[in-house]
Amino acid sequence: MGGIVRDMLRILVLHGPNLNLLGHREESIYGTATLDMIDASLIKLGGELGAELVIRQSNLEGELVNWIQEARRGYHGIIINPAAYTHTSIAIRDALAAVDLPTIEVHLSNIYRREEFRRHSYVSGVALAQITGFGATGYLLALRGLCEQISAAGSKGSSSGSTSVSRAKTGAH
Ligand code: DQA
Repeated sequence: MGGIVRDMLRILVLHGPNLNLLGHREESIYGTATLDMIDASLIKLGGELGAELVIRQSNLEGELVNWIQEARRGYHGIIINPAAYTHTSIAIRDALAAVDLPTIEVHLSNIYRREEFRRHSYVSGVALAQITGFGATGYLLALRGLCEQISAAGSKGSSSGSTSVSRAKTGAH
């Protein structure tokens, strides 16, 4: 009677505009962790959870939409910090609705404690959950929660699969 045997989870992690500047950008709001540090901690946790992560950052709305669409093939879930597009992008919401994968929306800052215009998210209505205000830890909470939800939802495979982690990143850093 071994542990859980399932296919390795494949998760797409998307970072939206200006998140490439983390660690240098409004540190009192977003903290000192760089995007590379956040990605490294995600990859480490992914390894522990048996999840393969593909991590991408873009400042371009259409590029994010394209990547979300591509996730239809071969991915089990999405973690996304849409950054400013959270508050403006029907296109990103529609893409997430179209692919219909379990999605966790992450924000480093608590968007409800800030300017009024940040309190509305186009994404939250199509997300499984939103994590906001935990800083970089929010991404790790998102990964844990997403993996748990996907496994509980019964995406049980028959192959044991080894634990490996890969990383593909594009965009300016
Ligand atoms: C953010 C919050 C957004 O309002 C903002 O535009 C960002 C980052 C966050 O992670 O706290 O760029 O998504």
